[in-house]
Amino acid sequence: MRTQIGIVGAGPAGLVLAHLLHLQGIESVVVESRSRKYIEERIRAGLLEQGTVDLLVEKGVGKRLQSEALTHHGIELRFNRRGHRIDFDDLTGGKTVTIYAQQEVIKDLVAARLEAGGQIIFEADDVSVHGFDSANPFIRFRAAGEAEELHCDYIAGCDGFHGICRPSIPAGVLTEFEREYPFGWLGILAKAPPSSDELVYTYSERGFALLTMRTREISRLYLQVPFDEDIKSWSDDRIWSELQMRTAADGDWKLSEGPIFQKGITGMRSYVVEPMQYGKMFLAGDAAHIVPPTGAKGLNLAVADVRIMAKGFVEFYATGKTRLLERYSETCLRRVWKAQRFSWWMTSMLHRFDTDNAFDQRRQIAELDYVTSSRAAMTTLAENYVGLPWD
Ligand code: FAD
Ligand code: PHB
Repeated sequence: MRTQIGIVGAGPAGLVLAHLLHLQGIESVVVESRSRKYIEERIRAGLLEQGTVDLLVEKGVGKRLQSEALTHHGIELRFNRRGHRIDFDDLTGGKTVTIYAQQEVIKDLVAARLEAGGQIIFEADDVSVHGFDSANPFIRFRAAGEAEELHCDYIAGCDGFHGICRPSIPAGVLTEFEREYPFGWLGILAKAPPSSDELVYTYSERGFALLTMRTREISRLYLQVPFDEDIKSWSDDRIWSELQMRTAADGDWKLSEGPIFQKGITGMRSYVVEPMQYGKMFLAGDAAHIVPPTGAKGLNLAVADVRIMAKGFVEFYATGKTRLLERYSETCLRRVWKAQRFSWWMTSMLHRFDTDNAFDQRRQIAELDYVTSSRAAMTTLAENYVGLPWD
């Protein structure tokens, strides 16, 4: 088999890349280890930055998003039993964020690819990447029991944090930057109308809680839990009672409850690898960097990376020049590190740390008080949350 760009992974990064390339007349094949059903049902992100939404709409894959998604003009930060609104409209000149589940983005992108005759090889086994330090890169895998080789001009490593592309780069080339957190998030989906029209980020003595949503009928709720927590120790009753305590507020606040139909715990880390490229292989999205979800940046960063990568490939096929491709990592990392900083900051401000002492708690409250009362501080939060400019 032969194509121009061999893409490993059909997550947001791989699928958006394949779509952008197709629109520019560049061929690609996506090699994915899971089934179509699996990737279309995997529960993950929900919050899209303005730029991500604009890109999907502009590139013709935003139809369903435009009719089904929920547009948000602000968020609430809650502490000491009081809510404080951060007004994005006012602070960012009218920018918004959008709730639309990651698996819906995936469904739209897969449908668009297949409709356009694009190739996605699902359930590929034993995927490995070769020759990216030579003129002949290729991806080796097994599909339906047959051994295959996909030869290409370049490989895009879009296979997530646990993928094979990053570890295939020779030792000594990459530098890793990492921070782990002593907690994770327990996330649930519940058949319950959202308690509030906008997301509520809550700091409480019992730990962080986030109220978000998927539709007008389905709530998505998260609780900070210890990193090694066993989901079995969280009955539905315990989850609701903990959410009630952490989100308690004065005034006419009521947490909307309903049957829980999905539960899971995810760890948290900050991670960046530099550079995000080696020879003829380029890494994008979670394959190159991970952020804790408090800033809602992961999917958005994945889309921003492949937008830059696609521009590099377009320049290469149009002119033979590799100027943009050579600068790919440097260009992405400027934005990646700002999203890292923001995600770390939101996480540090809103979670209880094991090592907390009374000083740290007072400092966190002072920070929240400042962030919700100074227009300059609110603007900092708002402009990062809706997404920094791409270029
Ligand atoms: P992935 O989505 O991980 O896709 C990688 C693909 O590669 C997968 O389909 C995988 O099956 C495939 N793959 C892996 N190994 C191989 C292999 N060897 N061969 C072939 N294929 C392979 N981000 C936000 O922006 N906003 C949010 O609100 C948000 N909330 C989140 C909440 C939670 C609970 C979690 C866990 C994450 C959240 N994120 C959020 C992060 C976001 O989901 C990820 O950053 C995003 O999925 C990254 O996209 P990606 O394409 O880089 O990687
Ligand atoms: C989500 O809707 O899943 C979500 C929203 C905001 C976050 C994290 C997750 O910060």
